[in-house]
Amino acid sequence: MVPLAFISSTQTVPNLNKVPRHIAIIMDGNGRWARKRFLPRVAGHSRGVEAVRGTIRAAIERGVEYLTLFAFSSENWRRPVEEVSFLMQLFIKSLQKEVSRLHENGIRFRVIGDRSRFEPILVKAIAAAEELTANNTRLHLTVAANYGGRWDVLSAVNRVLARQPGLTGISEEMINDELSMSFAPEPDLFIRTGGEQRISNFLLWQLAYSEFFFTDALWPDFDGKLLDQAIASYQERERRFGRTSEQLTVSKGGEVERHA
Ligand code: IPE
Ligand code: IPE
Ligand code: MG
Repeated sequence: MVPLAFISSTQTVPNLNKVPRHIAIIMDGNGRWARKRFLPRVAGHSRGVEAVRGTIRAAIERGVEYLTLFAFSSENWRRPVEEVSFLMQLFIKSLQKEVSRLHENGIRFRVIGDRSRFEPILVKAIAAAEELTANNTRLHLTVAANYGGRWDVLSAVNRVLARQPGLTGISEEMINDELSMSFAPEPDLFIRTGGEQRISNFLLWQLAYSEFFFTDALWPDFDGKLLDQAIASYQERERRFGRTSEQLTVSKGGEVERHA
């Protein structure tokens, strides 16, 4: 049997849980949160870390299996150098401070994104955190840092070609296997805070059939209550994956099944 994690929404209709198995979040609005309080933008990033902590806790309580958080995009290097440097330092500090707690809570931690521009100390801290938590299974927590959806797809294609030079065609599976999130099912629910309604080069390939939830709440204000709102909205959606409404039945457990 194909492990559920590897089911592609465009090739097979996945079995669905009532609670989204995988939630991916664009944590936006830190700068505006700070500016509203006449604070420097970076104060919003610091408060954003607290919202991350609360969201992880809430996700575990709700039974979410995979939580993927967009922390820094491949385009965020365009920001003022002081802000970029603050964000990198904050990432290092947060890792050093939180890793043991993540581990105690049975959380498997991963980073996706291009690490080649990170300072060696950050690269080492990430590797250490990934290694320490490698056998945990309670929640798969993934932080996207220097991540871009196009980078992800292109890197996957280039790895396929490097492995099998002279290929005349590439299949969806080949790309799926090489993507940075090949270990996870595709996101069921995509959340973006901060009021903008765009993907900003997040998981372009993997969001093919995800449900989208946008909220005006700024990231530092995000909490379990807002997560519940997003999940409740998700539970009202009919995920058809290309089929008609008539082809679906909803069982008591909330699982959408396909008529034979
Ligand atoms: C999101 O908040 C955090 C990062 C992109 C690192 P922003 O810093 O984008 O906050 P706004 O959108 O300017 O309010
Ligand atoms: C997206 O937010 C990236 C992260 C939250 C890390 P941005 O604030 O960078 O997105 P744009 O520039 O408004 O699209
Ligand atoms: Mg923003």
